[in-house]
Amino acid sequence: MTALDRLKDDHKLIKRYLDNLFIAHDFLVEREAVPASVFEKTLDFSKNFMNKYHHFREEYVLFLKLAEKKGGTIDPQIVSLRDQHERSRELVSRIKEALKGYKSNDEVAFSRLAENVGYYVSLERQHVNRENHVFYPMAEEAFSDDEMAEFDAEFDKIEKKQGGDSFDKAVKLVESIEADMKQKFGAVYRDRYDKLVSERGHKK
Ligand SMILES: [Fe+2]
Ligand SMILES: [Fe+2]
Repeated sequence: MTALDRLKDDHKLIKRYLDNLFIAHDFLVEREAVPASVFEKTLDFSKNFMNKYHHFREEYVLFLKLAEKKGGTIDPQIVSLRDQHERSRELVSRIKEALKGYKSNDEVAFSRLAENVGYYVSLERQHVNRENHVFYPMAEEAFSDDEMAEFDAEFDKIEKKQGGDSFDKAVKLVESIEADMKQKFGAVYRDRYDKLVSERGHKK
């Protein structure tokens, strides 16, 4: 599996996580209380899998090398991708902040949580598709097999340094978010999830 395949696998898991948050957001909009544990796990997934693991490998390996290779011609796009990573972190900080009041049934906090979860899901879905459809194909075309093998080695180093189990832990976290949603909303959650995935058709 190449470095890019590994990033694409991360994206599949991130999309599954975002689908759950999309549904959680809908419930919040309908003034249905979503278990706070779903958002606590969101903070964990975002910090440990998305920022430390996924964004780190994108920024310090892929974006860096791609920018070098393109000799400055795509710098504005790389800056914009990094900005989106940064904005994503800011939105998660706001979710974290709102979660305190949400847990004590504060109405303003409930609204702030709903609002920021919505912004976060929207930004991340757009960002992941942008990378899948524009930047990863650009990287596939720009780098030789040897260069790609160097990225693999870089990724191995980073993954090892981070304990080697970041992906597996993240899968467990998404499964646990799904279990919390199922427990609270049962068949309504399952129906919404199935509908969301089936309506996406070929762009899973
Ligand atoms: Fe990214
Ligand atoms: Fe990404």
